[in-house]
Amino acid sequence: MSEVGIERIGFATPGLYMDMKDLARRRGIDPDKYTVGIGQSEQSVAPSSQDAVTLAAAAAKDALEGESLEGLDMILLGTESAVDASRAAAVYVKELLGLPDAVRCVEVKQACYGATAALFWALDYVSRRKDRKVLVIGSDVARYGLNTPGEVTQGAGAVSMLVSYDPKILAIEDDSVFMTAEVADFWRPLYSNCALVNGRYSTQIYLEFFSKLWERYKQKTGKGAKDFEAFLFHLPFAKMGLKALKEVLKEADDATFARLSKRFETSAAYSRRVGNIYSGSLYLSLLSLLEGQAMEPGSRIALFSYGSGAEAELFSATLKEGYLSRLYPERHLKMIEGRKRVTVDEYEHLFSDFPTSSPQDYACDKKYFSGPFRLVGVKDQQRMYEADE
Ligand code: HMG
Repeated sequence: MSEVGIERIGFATPGLYMDMKDLARRRGIDPDKYTVGIGQSEQSVAPSSQDAVTLAAAAAKDALEGESLEGLDMILLGTESAVDASRAAAVYVKELLGLPDAVRCVEVKQACYGATAALFWALDYVSRRKDRKVLVIGSDVARYGLNTPGEVTQGAGAVSMLVSYDPKILAIEDDSVFMTAEVADFWRPLYSNCALVNGRYSTQIYLEFFSKLWERYKQKTGKGAKDFEAFLFHLPFAKMGLKALKEVLKEADDATFARLSKRFETSAAYSRRVGNIYSGSLYLSLLSLLEGQAMEPGSRIALFSYGSGAEAELFSATLKEGYLSRLYPERHLKMIEGRKRVTVDEYEHLFSDFPTSSPQDYACDKKYFSGPFRLVGVKDQQRMYEADE
């Protein structure tokens, strides 16, 4: 039987983080609200030199290391932190990676759902071309604004997935259910570099979409909670996924309840420390689960993708024999553990030091240069990027 899916997974996050207890104290809020009520312990902080392009390129480099580039036909980049209203961020990524010009580069936008749309287009593409590959990336910097209710749910990072025929990590099944409806739960007007959000309403819509799709999925496939080794969610914050999981746990026997609850905790471990990375968030849950917990090949995993505005998809995937040998858990843990802690003052300074939307030149602060790629600044209204030699 032909199978299509994920061959390699890469990850990147900025080299700085803020502790959520520090933020809570500064905002005069009980730290338990952030760490327990919301479920976030840390948040990656992006200096202006780290944006959707540099993070995507770093995650792509991570996935492609040691891989043959033979057959790589496309880069599809899901992001809602666009750096240009016309040019795709994927074009910059291709250039930073030094890839040959025989590659298609496109940006996909639909809030946090963008990378999932890209993933399904990539799966269709490789299913007809056994020797071709597509790199799918979800990359974002989540910004709500200083002293806003959404501030605790910010974050930054990217996840990349090399999609192929006969994949070595995960086969994606052809069992999706999906839906779209125009909803004003979260959006970002063109003038602003921060999102606007009807916060509690957005959590309601997320849960409504999940419940509807779970019902449809069960009807379509005849499967139920017990058929899954794990349930993965888009995680704007860890508690959100837990609320959705409760819908599934209502119908679970004791063993299923214990298994799905335990696997959920493993899947949320990276997100609790990195924060919301928007389009890459569901796939960060996937990486966190795969790298945090050995499972039997053939295990079935459910994935729920949600993008405000709003669009969602529920689908499943099965683990391939030998998948563990294709992962780099130590490298990714080191990436998270190795970040430098910033104070709330430093975070507030970095948050406010953002390229303006005026025609003026802008220089990023060299003090915060880190990672293999960075934005150096904006000159003559063009973004200037550089890569390590
Ligand atoms: P809020 O209104 O400040 O929080 O903002 P709250 O009052 O609703 O409290 C949150 C939880 O903390 C509650 O638990 C409280 O009980 C608990 P719950 O009832 O929900 O289980 N709590 C405490 N727990 C322990 N000790 C305490 C304590 N005090 C309270 N002392 C909100 C929360 C999420 C609304 C806000 O952070 C926000 O607006 N975030 C941004 C929006 C968001 O993340 N929405 C998620 C769904 S939409 C989505 O996922 C798409 C998205 O990723 C964007 C995209 O698609 O592009 C956002």
